[in-house]
Amino acid sequence: MVSERKKFYITTPIYYVNDKPHIGHAYTTIAADVLARLHRQLGDDTWFLTGTDEHGANIAKAAEKKGKDVKEFVDEVSAKFSFAWDQLGIAPDDFIRTTESRHERAVNIFLNKLKESGKIYEGEYEGLYCVPHEAFIKESDLVNGLCPDHKLKPERIREKNWFFKLSEYQSEILELVDSGKLLIQPATRKNEVLAFIQQGLEDIAISRPNVKWGIPLPWDSNQTVYVWVEALFNYCSAIGYGFDEEKFRKYWPADVQVMAKDIIKFHCIIWPALLLAIGEEPPREIFAHGFFTVDGQKISKTIGNVIDPNEWVDKYGADAVRYFLLREVPFGQDGDVSEQKLKTRYNADLANGLGNLFSRVTTMIEKYLDGDVGEFIKSPRDLSEVSESFNRLEFDKGLVEVWETISWADNLIEQSKPWELVKTEPAKVKELLVNLAALLYDIALKLSPVMPETAQIIKSALESEKITKPAQPLFPKIE
Ligand code: MSP
Repeated sequence: MVSERKKFYITTPIYYVNDKPHIGHAYTTIAADVLARLHRQLGDDTWFLTGTDEHGANIAKAAEKKGKDVKEFVDEVSAKFSFAWDQLGIAPDDFIRTTESRHERAVNIFLNKLKESGKIYEGEYEGLYCVPHEAFIKESDLVNGLCPDHKLKPERIREKNWFFKLSEYQSEILELVDSGKLLIQPATRKNEVLAFIQQGLEDIAISRPNVKWGIPLPWDSNQTVYVWVEALFNYCSAIGYGFDEEKFRKYWPADVQVMAKDIIKFHCIIWPALLLAIGEEPPREIFAHGFFTVDGQKISKTIGNVIDPNEWVDKYGADAVRYFLLREVPFGQDGDVSEQKLKTRYNADLANGLGNLFSRVTTMIEKYLDGDVGEFIKSPRDLSEVSESFNRLEFDKGLVEVWETISWADNLIEQSKPWELVKTEPAKVKELLVNLAALLYDIALKLSPVMPETAQIIKSALESEKITKPAQPLFPKIE
């Protein structure tokens, strides 16, 4: 019997297109790309989705500010996201935009289902709305009358909305999260979500009357769907909800949804409740990583410390940026990044570490073995823990393991002194170099989800009939 391939469906948030991508968006998307590449390598039937969130008052305002037609504006900014991902070596299987008709169609079906479920009703809402948040905010959450995240005064809104009976899902969601059936990682985030649920869930508005830039409710064209409800559904519409039943059934539920901690309430509470209401399974796991600061400060346009990932890629290369972001901060924790830190790691770990080892080993193979190592099969070190760490989203741990192995290999070369040994015991030098070639090959395999381009260069060099020293360094030193 042919065993069935395991499926693996991974998503990132869909990013707002009010501005071009920055290093924080890149972080999440790189992490998801690494997991997707790892699962493809493991032979899983993998589907990796990312995309852009293009409706809502905030986006309409951003377009207006630029004096642009909204559609034209979102087309431009969305293209900047896909361009940046391409530059970073990120290869999603699909990129969804919420202004696409496939999404709008699926959202319509979803909304009708939701209405049929009897879990929505018409009501009136009065409250405070934080526009950059695209969410209602409680009076008790304000600091000096301002939204603590955006330092802006929320708008007082009194309007007619359609509501979703989130309050009815209190115990079901609590059970789901508490039992780990919906796994929330790291544990601190799970506890945060549990505490929030225990405060009591309130019904939520799922539509807005005065937001024109959005998808109209199928039964009330004066209202558009609340942007968050619509956006969450992208994870289903992209895999064919409502029109490609086979594909949808194949991939849903999502295996891992990666994001930062800022949006876990939407994903760990509202999202599973909406899914339960329409009779679909909640996602299996939500992984919420931490927030980056740049030089110790929040990433913000006003501060002027927004880093465009393209600038780093142009200077250091995609693999170096991917390596740096995942190595620098343990995934799940907050951390600080800067170009100085990138440069330090680039020179120490990549130019002097991996790049140097590759150059040393291939140079010696060329010089002492005339480029021919013969068969190399078994690496002298077991690196299977590396992929296991990546699989647990402990990227820094897996990378540390690889770099410990690189130091080990450097030491081995220093101690064996092949340049002297070759005069007296050439057979020993051959054995050493065969081992080192096997080790480097294994390093390339294990690193390939994180550094696909570099891994390919190393693998092809070692696979070639005659191994030669590299024409140029893998990572030229940057002063
Ligand atoms: N459009 C919503 C998400 C809808 S998903 C159904 C949204 N968009 S966003 O553009 O604000 O993206 C938020 C996400 O961007 C975070 O969850 C995280 O993945 C990433 N990051 C944004 N800033 C970041 C940092 N400073 N640090 C780390 N990640 C950051 O929310």
